[in-house]
Amino acid sequence: MRHLLSTAELGAADALRILDTAEEMSAVSGRQVKKLPTLRGRTVVNLFYEDSTRTRISFEAAAKRLSADVMNFAAKGSSVSKGESLKDTVQTLEAIGADAVVMRHWASGAAARLAASGWTDCAVVNAGDGTHEHPTQALLDALTVRRSVAERDGRDPRGTDLTGVDVLIVGDILHSRVARSNVWLLHTLGATVGLVAPPTLLPHTVETWPVRVHYDLDEALAAGPDAVMMLRVQAERMGGSYFPSAAEYARRWGLTDERLADYVRRVGSPAILHPGPMNRGVEISSAAADSPHTRALDQVSHGVAVRMAVLHLLLSGDHDRRTDRAPHPAPDRASTDGSPR
Ligand code: CP
Repeated sequence: MRHLLSTAELGAADALRILDTAEEMSAVSGRQVKKLPTLRGRTVVNLFYEDSTRTRISFEAAAKRLSADVMNFAAKGSSVSKGESLKDTVQTLEAIGADAVVMRHWASGAAARLAASGWTDCAVVNAGDGTHEHPTQALLDALTVRRSVAERDGRDPRGTDLTGVDVLIVGDILHSRVARSNVWLLHTLGATVGLVAPPTLLPHTVETWPVRVHYDLDEALAAGPDAVMMLRVQAERMGGSYFPSAAEYARRWGLTDERLADYVRRVGSPAILHPGPMNRGVEISSAAADSPHTRALDQVSHGVAVRMAVLHLLLSGDHDRRTDRAPHPAPDRASTDGSPR
């Protein structure tokens, strides 16, 4: 792997290699001394044009646990506000010594553009680009689902894909890069995927995705999926009104206390996921968010392990990136799926 830009272009073998490496990294994170020397002398830059708590901090923790140097760059408060371009920004960071750029950007396709541009020899990791993709989020979600199903079945998760596992993704699919990355990755790993949303929050090309679509959450939960992922309602990306009110959204598409209780009665020990940050009382009730079935904090911990695995696989070894330029044109599914850019 030279870059990690999307799960749409990640094969099953590479995805499993990341998940199994993350299991090893997770064991390191459980030790008293949470450090490995593998990236000593390497520099990782977190280049964030959009706000983040989990992704930025966990990439920083991941790089430091691998003994890399870390530079954090937030566009707010930088020369980006004076009009400096992405090209000049990245070349400035590379001149300071960056080997990898972990980038979050408001524009769909920004990470793929950077990787294909020839502006830099740095490895590029997409930490979320517009409504397009968030590949490390999907990988940490897959790790969480794989672990919870293996725990339930009393077996070791390592080396296994998600064949036979059913995952339901609920909510604001239209604006969600997390949903897109999860759909491609879960499908690649052999899982079946259902989507539940109001019709206004589904992209019009959803019929071309490898998913089944529901509009009624109770009906979808009655089928007993192994894991349910509640998505954040992304009010900041909504120019208009997509549903009557937050209360109506919670009543029809939210994981309420009653819905969770019914679902648990039916399946025993489900895994509830939420990528965060949560709108408590909208897509998930406060009691459901804090229930023992909800893995949101496990997802955050798994994020450190997955990001350690990704940085390790991209940057470790004797490979000299600066003499190995390869164009990497990535398919940008966001450009053809009709979703907002
Ligand atoms: N899940 C996620 O990407 O969270 P942050 O926006 O806090 O990084």
